[in-house]
Amino acid sequence: MKVLVVGSGGREHTLVWKLAQSEGVDQVFCAPGNAGTAREPKSQNVALEALDFAGLAEFAQKEAIDLTVIGPEVPLCKGVVDYFQERGLLVFGPNHVGAQIEGSKSWAKEFMVQAKIPTALSHTFTDFESAKNYVQDRLAHVGKLVIKADGLAAGKGVVIAQDLAQALAALDSMFKGLFGSAGSVVVIEEFLEGQEASVLALCDGKTIVPLWAAQDHKTIGEGDQGPNTGGMGAYCPAPVVTAKTLAFTQKEILDRALAEFQRRGIDYRGILYAGLMVHPDETVSVVEFNCRFGDPETQVVLPLLANSLEQVLMATAKGELQSVPLQWHPGAAVCVVMAAGGYPGPYCQGKVITGLDNQVPETLVFHAGTEEQDGRILTKGGRVLGVTAIAPTLQEAVDRAYQRCSFIQFEDAYYRMDIAHRVLKS
Ligand code: AMP
Ligand code: GLY
Repeated sequence: MKVLVVGSGGREHTLVWKLAQSEGVDQVFCAPGNAGTAREPKSQNVALEALDFAGLAEFAQKEAIDLTVIGPEVPLCKGVVDYFQERGLLVFGPNHVGAQIEGSKSWAKEFMVQAKIPTALSHTFTDFESAKNYVQDRLAHVGKLVIKADGLAAGKGVVIAQDLAQALAALDSMFKGLFGSAGSVVVIEEFLEGQEASVLALCDGKTIVPLWAAQDHKTIGEGDQGPNTGGMGAYCPAPVVTAKTLAFTQKEILDRALAEFQRRGIDYRGILYAGLMVHPDETVSVVEFNCRFGDPETQVVLPLLANSLEQVLMATAKGELQSVPLQWHPGAAVCVVMAAGGYPGPYCQGKVITGLDNQVPETLVFHAGTEEQDGRILTKGGRVLGVTAIAPTLQEAVDRAYQRCSFIQFEDAYYRMDIAHRVLKS
């Protein structure tokens, strides 16, 4: 069979790599892809952007693609799945109504309240004055408030305000349009204490099944300091998600979300990514839902999955998930993201990457922001590579991943040296 993967990051390279491993997959296309997806066996890039719905659907029809897998949230929120389904094309991902679970924080909050899913208490505002009055009043009682632009803001639309000045500055920039229309509605919520974890669940509209839990490292600096990024590394499994926590997550979060989708007549098929805050008593609250695979969580979850990925994704898209029990390789996986110096602020592109072919057993280099020019691999993005290792123990996986990183060079390369530190410390 033939599969088309849409997107160009580390998540998409991992999807392509895993799909290409399946005997049942003859060819994988990636639109637009990166230098890594172009180099995978059975795989080739297609020069089509993720928002070119007409071009993508035409390509899928012409090439008789059996399944299209959508990586990023923006095309999902803009209705790429609806566009494909209207043309009778099989596609993995939720339609634009379902994708609002990520595309609008106020929609997601209202959804959670209706479904009785545990989450931080929140209020939604559409004007600066009311929001200002609320934070003035509330900050007299709590130490921190979380202020969120409603729409997609590439992970940058969230401010944790510790005092009134910070809160007002955040509200001001959001209502003044720093995030475009994403900030014309603002959600203000209570700060949740605990450890974050990501549970990516497969949902076919009838069944919802979690993949192994992962944890990512959102901040740029070691010790979880500095500004947030798209994610600087991840590991799987995440011990903070105990059996008790997972059972709670299934019953109080995933099953309730599925029931609420069904109650609203939303046929949700794809990944429902639950961003969780795990509390000390092993219960959890939802920080956010995403409508897609996580990045870099995918880079550590999929290498441990023992099933053929195309069978799992196909069954999900067709509503037959129950017929595919998930199986896992034992052990642990770690991904260290190598970024361009300056990221998440301004950074340079076009730097030559060397040392990619130096092998370390059981390691994989997933490309994120790269491109090939005249046989050389160049940087083309903030997050450049996701260096991943699989091993019997987390410590061995960490050691192998850093060993592989040490061979890879490009000017101003930066990576955190403390991925998985929370677990290794304990
Ligand atoms: P979000 O885009 O909603 O996932 O928020 C981005 C990040 O902000 C999360 O990964 C958390 O680290 C943090 N965050 C968001 N909401 C809360 C909350 N209510 N309490 C504590 N931290 C939060
Ligand atoms: N790693 C965070 C995300 O994919 O949203």
